Parts: sequence; structure tokens; C-alpha cells
Amino acid sequence: MKVLLIGKTGQLGGDLIRNNPGYDIIAPSRDELDIGNREEIDAAIDGCRPDIVINTAAFHNLLLCETDPESAFRVNCTAVRNLALACRKAKAFLVNFSTDYVFGGDQCIPYVEDDRPQPLQMYGISRVAGEYAALASAPEHTVIIRTCGLYGRSGAQSKGGNFVDKRLQDAENCPVLEMGCDQLVSPTSTDDLSRAVWRLAVHPELKSGVYHLVNQGECTWYEFTKAIYEIAGFSALVRPVDRGGMSGNMRRPLYSVLANTKARGMGITLPHWRDGLKQYLGAA
Ligand SMILES: NC(=O)c1ccc[n+]([C@@H]2O[C@H](COP(=O)([O-])OP(=O)(O)OC[C@H]3O[C@@H](n4cnc5c(N)ncnc54)[C@H](OP(=O)(O)O)[C@@H]3O)[C@@H](O)[C@H]2O)c1
Repeated sequence: MKVLLIGKTGQLGGDLIRNNPGYDIIAPSRDELDIGNREEIDAAIDGCRPDIVINTAAFHNLLLCETDPESAFRVNCTAVRNLALACRKAKAFLVNFSTDYVFGGDQCIPYVEDDRPQPLQMYGISRVAGEYAALASAPEHTVIIRTCGLYGRSGAQSKGGNFVDKRLQDAENCPVLEMGCDQLVSPTSTDDLSRAVWRLAVHPELKSGVYHLVNQGECTWYEFTKAIYEIAGFSALVRPVDRGGMSGNMRRPLYSVLANTKARGMGITLPHWRDGLKQYLGAA
């Protein structure tokens, strides 16, 4: 099976390569394939005739999405539509990622795939638009995977640190750390996620549509930070702060825990977030 992977330098892209079960992966750099450029998309897919295109690229800096919504839509919506159209033409499956931020956070049980999106900021709006654009352009060839709170090895190496690594650095620099206790999330290890993505992408029962894939369980960023220090054996002091979901003028969902309902029905499960974290910290 031939796979075109976009975003190989990212957290998820890096782990998809590390955990490749043995497929023929073609992974262009961003210089070789910028998904903002339709001609480059068409040339890449025409050139390698993949069975699956996995797009992990996104414009996902939330504050930049607020100030530069055109760029957010170009990468998160228009580019995803162009990928879907090219995949339909090539009879390839598009696996595209999306986010828990498509939801509004006004419920207190995990969101299932069919729950109604209600994004609160331009980032979530551009991602919902991308989901619809891909599913409408290639209704038989699109898989959208929503996930949440990613951390992984490549993020640590090339992006100046993911959430876990940043908290470990904080422990050495800040005597007291304030962390949000207002948002409930499903922090997810890209090592676990990438293994589940490979299983889902080649599953015989896979159909077009939206899937959720996150580590099991839920916690606040405050609880997650406490767990990082507990597992890593650090004694840093963490103080909970309630910002009511606000970040500057931007709203974040207070509750965005996802339920992997469809994947679980296909026999695909991910470990609890605490186990994913232990594995990442080498304490499993
Ligand atoms: N991180 C999270 O907490 C989180 C939460 C929910 C959903 N997600 C979604 O999960 C997916 C994977 O996230 P991640 O954390 O692995 O992302 P990441 O570490 O930021 O990696 C993104 C990758 O996409 C590439 N890229 C960005 N813009 C591109 C463009 N215009 N054309 C081609 N390549 C481009 C980047 O290349 P360069 O290295 O060259 O920039 C990088 O390889 C994304 O769709 C993301 O929105 C992430």
C-alpha cells in the first residue's frame, strides 16, 4: 500500500513514520509540497498515485487564526477541499485531522462523532469548514479524525517543546506554576494516536466519515501538569487557576473530551491518558 504523508516533521507525522507497519510512505517536505498551493497538491498525487493521503498539516495557532483568518481558511479549509478533490480523482482515501475545538463545550459527557459542532473561535470554525468541505468534495473518500491535546517526540525536538516538555522546563525555572483548571480535555500521545491511525486507515470496515481518536479518560490541564510532575518525580508547586475558558478575548470550550465511539466499535482502542503519559516519560 502506498501512502502520501503530509507533515512528516510534525508530532503526529513523526510518529506515523516511526510506527509505520511497513507501508510504502512518500513524505515530501513542506518545501516540496505546500498544501496552500493547489498545483503542488495535484502534482504530488498525480505523481505518486497513493492509495491513502494522510494530511497532518494544519494552521493551528489559535491566536494567529483570530488575527489572520484568511490563512486559517486557506490551510484548514480550502487546502483540505483541494486534497479531497485530488483524492477523489485518484481514487485514494484522504485521512485528514481535525480538533476537539469544533465543539462548544456546553455538555459534560464526552462528545461522540455525531454531536453538533459549535466552534467558539476562528480556529474551530476553519476546522469545521474543512471537515464539511472534504466530506462534500469526496463523500466516498474522506476520513476525518478529530483528536485533542497532542504531545509527541517530534514536537519536543523541532517545535521548541510540546506541553509535557514545556512543563518539565517550567519545573526547573518557575517556583510556582499556575495551570488552568477550567477546561476538561483528553490529552493524547501521538505515539498512541499514530498506532490507532494505522489500524483505522486499513480497517476493512472503514467508511467515509468522522472518527474520534484520543487517549481514554479526561482531566484539566492542571491535573495533567500534576500528573507530569508526579510521574517524572518533580516536586514543583502547581496552583489551579480558573479563567472560565477565556484566553485573551478568545473563548475555548470548557469541556471538549471526545469519545472514540466509532473506532471502539471496530475494535480500535487507545490507552488511558495516564498510561500514554507514563510511556512518553519512560516510566511505563
Ligand atoms: N497539537 C495539538 O494539540 C492538536 C490538537 C487537536 C488536533 N490537532 C491536529 O492534529 C494534526 C497533527 O498535529 P501536530 O501537533 O502533529 O502538528 P505539528 O506538530 O504542528 O505538525 C504540522 C506539520 O504540518 C506541516 N505543515 C504546516 N503547514 C503546512 C503547509 N501549508 N503545507 C505542508 N505542510 C505543512 C509542518 O511542517 P513544518 O515543520 O515545515 O512547519 C509539520 O510537519 C493537525 O491537523 C492538528 O491541527 C492537533
